[in-house]
Amino acid sequence: MAKSDKGGKVAVVTGAGGTLCSEMSIALAQNGYKVALLGRDLSKLEKVEHEIRKNGGHAISLSTDVTNEGELENSKLAINEKLGPCNVLINGAGGNQLAAVTSLTSFDKKELMDASASDGARGFFNLDMHTFQSVLQTNTMGTVIPSRIFGRDMAENGGGSIINMASMTSFRPLSRVAAYAMAKAAIVNFTQWLAAYLAPANIRVNAIAPGFFVNERSKKILYNPDGTNSARGENVLHHTPMKRYGEAKELIGCMNWLIDENASGFVTGIVVPVDGGFLADAGV
Ligand SMILES: NC(=O)c1ccc[n+]([C@@H]2O[C@H](COP(=O)([O-])OP(=O)(O)OC[C@H]3O[C@@H](n4cnc5c(N)ncnc54)[C@H](OP(=O)(O)O)[C@@H]3O)[C@@H](O)[C@H]2O)c1
Repeated sequence: MAKSDKGGKVAVVTGAGGTLCSEMSIALAQNGYKVALLGRDLSKLEKVEHEIRKNGGHAISLSTDVTNEGELENSKLAINEKLGPCNVLINGAGGNQLAAVTSLTSFDKKELMDASASDGARGFFNLDMHTFQSVLQTNTMGTVIPSRIFGRDMAENGGGSIINMASMTSFRPLSRVAAYAMAKAAIVNFTQWLAAYLAPANIRVNAIAPGFFVNERSKKILYNPDGTNSARGENVLHHTPMKRYGEAKELIGCMNWLIDENASGFVTGIVVPVDGGFLADAGV
């Protein structure tokens, strides 16, 4: 695959072994970026690294928990030594955890009962708060801490670009996913705050808000075991004017635009929906 003329620029991608950011990492390498792939499961990262190297690109994999400042500092040292300072940061690590998702869409007295009598109903009152906090931590501090650590490179070297991952639930909360919705709403606010703060450092900070893209976790929620759409999947598609899920490659144009100084040099603090029209649809 032909490389463009981005020369020695370095992109750091967190969550790079996942559905969306693996594709984004591959696209960055195709554009000539040296890509540092971060996530906890090294084997997932190495698959993406292999794909990049197979096509003549440059990537390294570093097992890193984005909520762990020490691990991120160590990864930064390794990246600086092997690739150079970071020019682009994609804060892709995130997502939800099942135990932080209610099974109920609205209050039911069953959630007030003890486990044996509740019929497995999971509501706000019997939700596991440890997991709730973990979702908040991963999606919020897992964006804040890498932005501090890799943004420092950009501040020292005259600028750069940070992209955060927001969601449809950033704007109005989807049912059942309180922790995830709260965290993704915070991502929009933090994107705006950081954009204003870092403007003098010539660092642009924007977010992409994907609509519904099937990943390993959402597959179980959007489809029945027999492969037909679940009730929730039907509901999502009903509210998506384009009547389909997105594909990871459909985020690449937006990412390329947001990191390209020539194309979007005056753009900072925005959130770009890539959602098949979901946000535009009033649902009635
Ligand atoms: N798919 C969608 O429809 C959708 C819609 C809106 C927003 N988003 C957001 O877009 C981003 C990517 O989503 P995706 O669909 O590609 O999800 P995904 O396939 O689950 O990928 C997310 C990646 O994040 C990594 N991760 C999770 N916690 C981490 C931690 N503490 N430290 C380091 N890495 C961590 C996971 O890898 P390890 O487990 O190996 O660490 C995983 O590979 C997420 O922020 C998600 O919330 C997705």
